[in-house]
Amino acid sequence: MFGLAAPMSTNAAETGVKPLPDPSLLAADPEKYWLRVREEQFFLPGWRNFLNNGSLGVAPRPVVGAVEDFLEHGAALLSDEYPRWGYETLDEERAEMAAFLGCKKDELAFTHCATDSLSTIAAGIDLKPGDEVVMTDLEHPSGKAGWAVRAARHGISVREVKIPLPPKSPEQLADIMISAIGPKTRVLFFSGIISPIGIVMPVRQICDAARAKGVISAVDGAHMNGQIPLKLSELGCDYYAGSPHKWMFAPAGSGILYIREENLGKLWPSIVTGGWDDKASGASRFMKIGTNNRAVVVGMMAGLRFLKALGPENVYARIHDLARRNYKMAASRPHLELFSGADERLYGSLVTIGFRGAKLEDLWRKARERKIWVYGSERLRLSTHIHTRPQDLEAFYSLVDDVIGGKKA
Ligand SMILES: Cc1ncc(COP(=O)(O)O)c(C=O)c1O
Repeated sequence: MFGLAAPMSTNAAETGVKPLPDPSLLAADPEKYWLRVREEQFFLPGWRNFLNNGSLGVAPRPVVGAVEDFLEHGAALLSDEYPRWGYETLDEERAEMAAFLGCKKDELAFTHCATDSLSTIAAGIDLKPGDEVVMTDLEHPSGKAGWAVRAARHGISVREVKIPLPPKSPEQLADIMISAIGPKTRVLFFSGIISPIGIVMPVRQICDAARAKGVISAVDGAHMNGQIPLKLSELGCDYYAGSPHKWMFAPAGSGILYIREENLGKLWPSIVTGGWDDKASGASRFMKIGTNNRAVVVGMMAGLRFLKALGPENVYARIHDLARRNYKMAASRPHLELFSGADERLYGSLVTIGFRGAKLEDLWRKARERKIWVYGSERLRLSTHIHTRPQDLEAFYSLVDDVIGGKKA
């Protein structure tokens, strides 16, 4: 029996992937280091200017290799285990992921994406007609929809609070969210990093205040894990939904669901098979959902190990530095508006700009011609990850200068 060790390995010899550049290069010449990481560890061709990691991240070579290896080993039936998940508890993998994310193994379940986890959270909390869920006015449709179903089906009410753009400070945002809690509020739901803009919310302060008022806190963390330093148990929330396929190098179809220990027996599962009510099994009962593709979990774990090998602090320092440069490039152009806050604590990698009413058809057309991949409309969210080159940002702003107007003199 080969077990899972061989296909799960990201060992260079097995995957044909080069080892990471020596860390001394990072200190000596960070630009060279990160360029080598892009060129050697990713499939991204040189001509691709990719500035939309926020919608879906890029799986690096070790992840693709691990997925391929697993599929091949599974198809060859080299193992005595089914090459699947959906009935398994995946204890080793959950323990490793939980150690990285800062929670207990039993508090963590693997899902397919944040939408999956968010739907489970919204469907699974006991709420009665008239109970109120408060959220921001900038939640992703995947965050809003689960509560909308509850409103339509069970008569709960949903209230949105306005987030100022650009926000001034984390303190201002904490104030807005905490003061929105009313007498009927049962759940405070918000994104830890607000999707359309990239605002990093002061999650701990908000969740602590909710807890003090007896209100359940649920955090949409689709953009958090991998983009900013994160310890789930330190967020203070009751529930958290994450998408490792955005910032943690996981293959598409990777999700996480965190359920704070004291809530493990309270949340109702939605997709169920035998074991749905085995509360002693912790969050793993939320993974009893029927046959799924284990290669995705294997790839997610390879992505985690890739991130650990790079050093999450190095990754954060790089992507935040690129975001800072991005912010400055936008701020130096009077034709552009910034929806992200100037206070650096308010963004990780995502910076969002606007075009002050300029016509944008030419911008989108030329972006495609120049192979610049961006996401947005009048409000454009730009993402930087470790494979982003400074020249990708320069290419984008030179496009903006050509189409919309020049830089401030
Ligand atoms: C804040 C937020 N929540 C949820 C989602 C949905 O994520 P997924 O497609 O991984 O389910 C997204 C996707 O962009 C998001 O930005």
